[in-house]
Amino acid sequence: DRESRRRSIADKVKSYPDFPKPGILFRDMFPLLRNPTDYRECINLFVEEIREKYPSTEVVVGIESRGFLFAPLMAQQLNVAFIPIRKAGKLPGQTISYSYALEYGNDTIEITRESIEAGQHVVVVDDLLATGGTLSASIELMNKAGASVECCMVLLELCDLKGRKKIKSPVYSMIPLN
Ligand code: PRP
Ligand code: ADE
Repeated sequence: DRESRRRSIADKVKSYPDFPKPGILFRDMFPLLRNPTDYRECINLFVEEIREKYPSTEVVVGIESRGFLFAPLMAQQLNVAFIPIRKAGKLPGQTISYSYALEYGNDTIEITRESIEAGQHVVVVDDLLATGGTLSASIELMNKAGASVECCMVLLELCDLKGRKKIKSPVYSMIPLN
């Protein structure tokens, strides 16, 4: 069943204490991607969740950079558009921007204006949910573009950081970790 499929990929995530700084337990998903069967399984599980719960999805939005490892493959399988959210200054043409506060300073994210139509149903994908700053800013950006965020999807959720509380859309995390 789906729960056992999920568990078997969860076992492949590797943990590195004190990387990149003391006190951080770094979760590395790349061992999972090294095995094509596991990687495919993880895309399949995301796609099944979308087909079941958010069948009106028209666009899969990926967040730079590790969100790009999942979102385009999901969009292909669903036969819908993939569009990228990037850091400011990377996308040509007219863009829509959203700025948000970080622990130190600010960050600005962008999408291409013509890539999204008002009212479109989108799913936003990233690799990992930590404090929730990135995903909540991405939802604000999509709302500024007039899109409706049906769900946010991540491979890994660092549950102790309670980032989920900041996210106003439903959140699906394939591998919740403490
Ligand atoms: C990581 C991760 C998420 C974000 C999550 O990105 O890929 O995008 O942090 O953290 P948050 O929930 O506290 O916002 P990072 O800035 O390391 O960039 P990368 O994906 O380009 O490696
Ligand atoms: N991004 C933010 N926190 C992280 C963590 N603990 N492991 C991997 N990537 C992260």
